[in-house]
Amino acid sequence: MMLSRNTYSASLDFFGQSTPEELTENFGSPLYIYNENILRARCRALKTLSTDPGLKVCYSTKANGNLHLLRIIREEGLSADAMSPGELALLRRAGFSNKDICYVCNNVAGEELAQACRESDHVSVDSVSQIESFGQVNPGGEIMARVNPGIGAGHHDKVVTAGKNTKFGIVPDDFDNMREALRKYRLKLIGLNQHVGSLFMDPEPYLEAAAWLLRTAELFPGIRLIDFGGGFGTPYHKYAGEKALDMKKFGTEFDALLSAFRARTGYGGSFIIEPGRYTVAECSVLLGRVHAVKNNGPVRYVGTDIGFNVLARPMIYDAFHDLELYRRGTEDRPPMVQTVVGNICETGDVLAAGRELPEAAVGDIVGVLDAGAYGHAMSSNYNQRLRPAEVLIAADGSCRLIRRRDTVEDLLAVYPEFGAF
Ligand code: LLP
Repeated sequence: MMLSRNTYSASLDFFGQSTPEELTENFGSPLYIYNENILRARCRALKTLSTDPGLKVCYSTKANGNLHLLRIIREEGLSADAMSPGELALLRRAGFSNKDICYVCNNVAGEELAQACRESDHVSVDSVSQIESFGQVNPGGEIMARVNPGIGAGHHDKVVTAGKNTKFGIVPDDFDNMREALRKYRLKLIGLNQHVGSLFMDPEPYLEAAAWLLRTAELFPGIRLIDFGGGFGTPYHKYAGEKALDMKKFGTEFDALLSAFRARTGYGGSFIIEPGRYTVAECSVLLGRVHAVKNNGPVRYVGTDIGFNVLARPMIYDAFHDLELYRRGTEDRPPMVQTVVGNICETGDVLAAGRELPEAAVGDIVGVLDAGAYGHAMSSNYNQRLRPAEVLIAADGSCRLIRRRDTVEDLLAVYPEFGAF
């Protein structure tokens, strides 16, 4: 007999002084909830990952650009990576300064590179052609180059960002052309960076690629920044007992690489990592409401307001998110296999297929775990639906709105004056 399924969030006291019912009643549904204590704990785990005095942790803003969360991340002493003028604007509003921002972009206009140079001390480009564009807007300037180590990692082909089948990075065959472009515009190469892909639970490929980057760095004497990228995984199968990445073990192995490199080469510069998901994924539960249940042939569908405009990851990457179910009352509802879907007009709008959950009923609340990374950040107005609000459960358990829900007026506001018929 299973009335609700909430042991994970309950064990963390995730919702503080509120219940999921109260939160959706007060702020509407669907709703992203963030827990400040968990966010701060992840930031601290990253800050203490390494004993190397020169390791900078640059939070990858693309995972979640909420201004209030960025402020907390800055308070915890992290730097940031940005890849668009929008991210720059948010980071600056949150208090990050030029020296705290690493701009890692690809395929952008010269004006964007010029802006990046004004607002960040470390701008990286990832092709010889972009080195030329950079040289034109900032001749004689300092630049970083993103290289491709030939080793990729990630939870889905679409997020493996190094190796053969990817647009990213400068491959070793192009290093001579890169040197020539740097010379042509008198650019000073201050660092190398890479990002092998997103979500590894086995650190081996990351460490292997890190070792490659360190060897490659020796080909470019005079650099002072070596950036290994992000990709640190978080467990999405919590109810099946999936273990977290062993950060202690990772840190020890990583440190061994870094200190051997310093000893071998006398390198006195900085190292950088760019974790996005690890920082923010686990501090959020996305809440939604069940509006319909039905059997279509053998499949029991649970219809919710969590369409793929709200959480795109299951639709795009077949990503798995654990679900919880919160409900009032004590009525006996057995567990059964159900398929949880959203309210978007596409058959692929499936949040979770064939999941064993307590039998859902209209009015129940569904919680989607680990929704903080690439959740709200990838939400859209598809079907002209409104992107959800975001609420923070503060360290003392109280709650407050940190981003309002879109309004229909927001949808209309982007059009130039459009007279009434
Ligand atoms: N640095 C660079 C240059 C990146 O492109 C990324 C992510 C990161 C750092 C941060 O990676 P993380 O630590 O979060 O794995 N939307 C996908 C993930 C896309 C990642 C894109 N780049 C998802 O929902 O799984």
